[in-house]
Amino acid sequence: MLPVEDQQLERLEIELLLEAVYRKYGYDFREYAYPSIRRRIRRRVMLENINTISSLQSLILHDREAFDRLLADLVISVTELFRNPEVFRWIREHLATELRETAFLRIWHAGCATGEEAYSSAIWLEEEKMLERSRIYATDINRAALDRARGGRLSRDRVPLYESNYREAGGKSELRSHCEEDEDGLRLSAGLKKRIVFAEHNLATDGSFNEFQMIFCRNVMIYFDSSLRERVHRLFHESLAPGGILVLGGKESLEFTSYGARYEALSEKYRIYRKIS
Ligand SMILES: C[S@@+](CC[C@H](N)C(=O)[O-])C[C@H]1O[C@@H](n2cnc3c(N)ncnc32)[C@H](O)[C@@H]1O
Repeated sequence: MLPVEDQQLERLEIELLLEAVYRKYGYDFREYAYPSIRRRIRRRVMLENINTISSLQSLILHDREAFDRLLADLVISVTELFRNPEVFRWIREHLATELRETAFLRIWHAGCATGEEAYSSAIWLEEEKMLERSRIYATDINRAALDRARGGRLSRDRVPLYESNYREAGGKSELRSHCEEDEDGLRLSAGLKKRIVFAEHNLATDGSFNEFQMIFCRNVMIYFDSSLRERVHRLFHESLAPGGILVLGGKESLEFTSYGARYEALSEKYRIYRKIS
């Protein structure tokens, strides 16, 4: 542990670095959870072979590629198809009938990374014959991840995991029946892609852009501090239709936000909530 004075100096350098990132590149990490941001920045300083965070600031201001390396450290785009398959199974078993009654379904995957979560929704909606009257909006701040998402390619080594997730999530046929195969491997089918709009959207700075019956925001707010989390919950609350469903990640909840009473827990275990007021 650093002496208090050094900790204060480090915090100042980090704040200045994040301000520089925001003002030069428009990415706003100023309200992300400090311990995790600090760990990633310290690691980047080491990997760039420099001694201080201030030197990193100078480097990223003058060198776009150095900034891209830092950005890759700050946005964590780990995801998978039918991640936590039991959540998708629950949704399918408990909500499909109700969702089928909605004339047109709009679903938002906020912080979709490389898109697997949005494709997972498209797959089960297709199997439930609801995809044709659904539109899925999949957004993120990470342009490179969104480009990969648009490609819809599944990396070969992950296919066995995805097949098992698909089955556990209640898949009705074979994952491969939702894919096209070419010499480079599997790609999610054009019919799924057609129903998904991939777009840049920053939860820290951008507003609401539609009304949704369902919003997924899993494993994103875990990286935010409490004030940013509160703002994002306001955004989701404004963006959900009456009775709309909010799905959070396994380590996230509405606790410690002022929105807890505005939702009922449909499944506390799976972090699935309904907007009630
Ligand atoms: C760990 S991934 C989660 C992906 C997916 N939701 C899942 O659970 O598998 C977190 C994603 O949140 C995105 N993200 C981080 N800050 C964001 C922000 N301010 N606005 C939108 N997306 C953000 C990151 O770029 C990253 O792709």
